[in-house]
Amino acid sequence: MDNKVYIFDTTLRDGEQVPGCQLNTVEKIELAKALETLGVDIIEAGFPISSPGDFNSVVEISKAVTWPTVCALSRAVPKDIDMAAESLRYAKHPRIHTGIGTSPYHIKYKFGSSEEEILERAVSAVKYAKKYVEDVEFYAEDAGRTDNEYLARVVEAVIKAGATVVNIPDTTGYCLPDEYGAKIKYLMEHVEGIDKAIISTHCHNDLGMATANTMAGLLNGARQAEVTINGVGERAGNTSLEEIAMILKSHSSLDLHTNINTRRIFSISRSVSSLMNMPIQPNKAIVGKNAFAHSSGIHQDGVLKNLSTYEIIDPHDVGIDDNSIVLTARSGRAALKYRLAVNGVDVDGEKLDAIYDKFLRLADKKKELGDEDILALAGAEHHTKHITVDYMQATCGIGVRPVSTVGLDIAGEKFEAASSGNGPFDAAVKAIRKIIDRSAVIKELTIQSISKGEDDCCKVHMQVEYEGRPYYGFGSDTDIVAATVEAYIDCMNKFPSRSHSSS
Ligand code: KIV
Ligand code: ZN
Repeated sequence: MDNKVYIFDTTLRDGEQVPGCQLNTVEKIELAKALETLGVDIIEAGFPISSPGDFNSVVEISKAVTWPTVCALSRAVPKDIDMAAESLRYAKHPRIHTGIGTSPYHIKYKFGSSEEEILERAVSAVKYAKKYVEDVEFYAEDAGRTDNEYLARVVEAVIKAGATVVNIPDTTGYCLPDEYGAKIKYLMEHVEGIDKAIISTHCHNDLGMATANTMAGLLNGARQAEVTINGVGERAGNTSLEEIAMILKSHSSLDLHTNINTRRIFSISRSVSSLMNMPIQPNKAIVGKNAFAHSSGIHQDGVLKNLSTYEIIDPHDVGIDDNSIVLTARSGRAALKYRLAVNGVDVDGEKLDAIYDKFLRLADKKKELGDEDILALAGAEHHTKHITVDYMQATCGIGVRPVSTVGLDIAGEKFEAASSGNGPFDAAVKAIRKIIDRSAVIKELTIQSISKGEDDCCKVHMQVEYEGRPYYGFGSDTDIVAATVEAYIDCMNKFPSRSHSSS
């Protein structure tokens, strides 16, 4: 049996179902690219029928990533599958993930149906999805509480119908590790044609057993693990990607390997936490603030003598880099280039110069710049800019009408306009519209802090609609209004090219 374990990341689908942690499309694209660099094999990008935003995210992620398989979720219903297929039209390696509940609870209470009818619906859904894509994954929802004999019949039938991967979710997080492992073993031993498909684990953490159950599944023959960064997900969450990756790396005697570049774990963990506004518990395995902090006297004495006394993982292996961070206004280009490279961003020449310019401007306002700050700066330099903000001045406060003056450089020509508005940003947008007659409607705006402190930098993600199409922009600055204006201009720089008509 092949010893490769495929890592299927569902941070952007199951993980994103956490109330209050929704991501916008720009953020999802940013994370999808980071997941690609991390080395995940499959990115579950969304549930397209559930909302236009989810549909759009699958489309954009399909365009943005190259080698990972992009997967879209659907129920075992033709209209869901049609939408999933449509959303995957730009994916280089598309996969439709379709399925239905197989436990007595689902069959009786959710569908008011019978085992035979559910089995037929499962088979038809797989056959229907196969018309669109070769790679079809089937999920037997609540497989954890499904009788093994019936589950084996379903799995055999969907493999015969063409499923390339069969997912065995412990949807409610109820199984014991032994029980879940035995379930996978039963399927490996009783399903005819099991070698034609990959069996996947998908475990929830309601009783704190998601990682243990996933490991039990892998040890009994599953070769795909469905996971999320930081274990995010509904209720108590899903299995953590970082835990599975580091268990398999540390226990090399198991001879199971993944494609994960573990040195990228720490930075993606922090990005997910900050984008989802979801703090990581300090004692979270692998990525918690205290995961490598030895505070007791005995432990400190031990690690000072030899790290292996109490440390089973080298923090560098998960990307914690102690000689890290802190760049200041006195840091040179080389230091900036080095820190960006440590964080997976390789830049040179003009691109580096542009980021360095912004870096110096920010360093003037903020004493110390961390990895997140410079990554934000690098993110703002992804594409060519025809329009740049030369300056922006805003007057606002209590009892005054906000007024903003904006100076723009449009392909070398200088323009200036001023306007009042409901707030300094509204005033700035109105001023920009006096210069450029391409007015867009702001659909989504999120403002987040990057690190901490009063001199912190903020990140602004914006979605605007222009001529019926969405555009995404990003800005970062210590000044919220300036960052928001930058994000707006970033959107405008992505509009289809025609000479910007100005007055
Ligand atoms: O937990 C679950 O059963 C799921 C399926 C939709 C795959 O997330
Ligand atoms: Zn799930």
